[in-house]
Amino acid sequence: MSLTHKAATSLVRRTTQLPALRQSAAVVQRRHKADSNFDASTSHAVFESPFHRGQSGQQDTTVIPSFKKYRGGSEAGNKMFSYFMVGAFGGLTALGAKDTVASFLVNMSASADVLAQAKVEVDLATIPEGKNVIIKWRGKPVFIRHRTADEIQEAEATDWQKLRDPQPDSARVQKPEWLIMVGVCTHLGCVPIGESGDFGGWFCPCHGSHYDISGRARKGPAPLNLEIPAYDFPDETNLVIG
Ligand code: FES
Repeated sequence: MSLTHKAATSLVRRTTQLPALRQSAAVVQRRHKADSNFDASTSHAVFESPFHRGQSGQQDTTVIPSFKKYRGGSEAGNKMFSYFMVGAFGGLTALGAKDTVASFLVNMSASADVLAQAKVEVDLATIPEGKNVIIKWRGKPVFIRHRTADEIQEAEATDWQKLRDPQPDSARVQKPEWLIMVGVCTHLGCVPIGESGDFGGWFCPCHGSHYDISGRARKGPAPLNLEIPAYDFPDETNLVIG
């Protein structure tokens, strides 16, 4: 193909594309006219600052510009939507927090079997005078002694001020005939044996501690008297420990 033929072919192509090019240029011009920011005289987009111009012609940056035209919907509608979203999320958060606290309390509270062991009720009518009974309370032995009149007199007559853990008998009982104590030796935690020892009370065979008929430490390494648990007499014949 000769050079002249190539030039002629190119010219024919351009001539056939010319109407389409003119059409697209007209579309672009119409769009620019529709756009208020387009300046036809300079043929480029113009930025209008949202800040007002003062008398000097300088922009006043202390005035907050209005962004109304960028907002969708009315101002009241937008506020309602914001309030609704804040309220809804607040409500959901409060519900979640309530459920979390409730399940935490349920998990941490004592189970039914633990609550059942917290208090023990004893029928005192079944314990004859002069006898010991041992019950289990919170995993520990508790001694219940139905004391005789002689034992009460002996416990009260003791010169308690000279004992290693001075305590009068009246401070250890609510009713003189009923002595209730935790049956754990105050030396190293063995369980003393009742109705034995040098003082007619309890004897701990582990290291030889003797307790009297009021449960006070009288001899051996035990430093303290046997502990008195919390208890109550709801009526004449019943005892509640715990
Ligand atoms: S544990 Fe009772 S005397 Fe040591």
